[in-house]
Amino acid sequence: MNSRRFHLITGAAAAAALAFGMHHAHAQADTLKIGVILPMTGQQASTGKQIDAAIKLWMAQNGNKAGGKTVEVIVKDDAGIPDTTRRLAQELVVNDKVVALAGFGITPSALATAPIATQSKTPMVVMAAATSAITAASPYVVRTSFTLPQAAVGLAEWATKNKIGKVVTLVADYGPGNDAEKYFAERMTLNGGKVLDKLRTPLRSPDFAPVLQKVRDAAPDALFVFLPSGQGAQFMKQFGERGLDKAGIRLIATGDVTDDDQLNDMGDVALGVVSSHHYSAAHDSPANKKFVAAFEAANKFRPNFMAVGGYDGMRVIYNALNASKGARGEALLNAMKGQLFESPRGPVLIDAQTRDIVQDIYIRKVEKKNGQLWNIEFDSIKQMKDPGKSK
Ligand code: PHB
Repeated sequence: MNSRRFHLITGAAAAAALAFGMHHAHAQADTLKIGVILPMTGQQASTGKQIDAAIKLWMAQNGNKAGGKTVEVIVKDDAGIPDTTRRLAQELVVNDKVVALAGFGITPSALATAPIATQSKTPMVVMAAATSAITAASPYVVRTSFTLPQAAVGLAEWATKNKIGKVVTLVADYGPGNDAEKYFAERMTLNGGKVLDKLRTPLRSPDFAPVLQKVRDAAPDALFVFLPSGQGAQFMKQFGERGLDKAGIRLIATGDVTDDDQLNDMGDVALGVVSSHHYSAAHDSPANKKFVAAFEAANKFRPNFMAVGGYDGMRVIYNALNASKGARGEALLNAMKGQLFESPRGPVLIDAQTRDIVQDIYIRKVEKKNGQLWNIEFDSIKQMKDPGKSK
């Protein structure tokens, strides 16, 4: 091909592309899109259902304007499959030009997406996943959920004070389970306790029968459990059916197990279970009562800790869009850092250095009130940073 003619053609094409691009940029300048990726189907579907409902509540209460522009939320279903999460994130960044990515029901989904956030300089708000290391996977990650080290350390302290000396741990065999096991066991050992066995079940389709038999045989004072949201009811049923409660083995857990999404259907086997977490639907504050009432009016179910992570995630994005007057990229990210606000869970800080959440961790006990089961908070550790960051 004649090289001069080639230049003319490419020159014209470039001019056309530029014109189209400018037009395109102008058309989207008034709309800020937020790309939310959630497990709406599959094993983690309760997380998707809860966060989606919380985002809709946030929008209903706060409108679709932020940073002087119109906000549009695009929700995509990854079914909890990390390869799908990554593909959807890529499409949302490239095709939809989202200002922020959000959601992420499980740790592998968040980790699969982190490189895309880094490369495209897109803030990524983790509303659910809770492995400590996620915030280190990209400087664009900001977290509004919690970390398993936060939940586990407080419970170990409570166990020691309550004469629980010998324990067995049982966790889901992946990131957050590793964190829960490590931080609970380390703190128990530090406090003079003994960890008799460390058991694990797979993330997908776990069978609790064999591990519960092992727990029975080991006869600890207590069994410590972390399972991801959605598995608590099935576990609790088998714990009761195998008579572990009657054998005098105390069940203690992170609040993922006594999940408000399922707690009310667990029955009396859940009564008295002590857990630690950042949110209970029974949290006694005016802000939470308002949140729960509005959530229950809009949905036929109670908000759980995932809903609060989603609601606060939207708050962090809105606050940042407003403070930065609708900025993108690093300017939007910087406006997310250091935010301090009252969440339905209590006071919250987005640590500017780590981009992780600093929050109160509560010790709770399952009690029946007015015929319903609730996680009733009876103690707390104030403004806990992620213990996983200090190592
Ligand atoms: C996670 O995969 O990080 C995860 C999922 C559900 C939970 C906690 C952590 O309840």
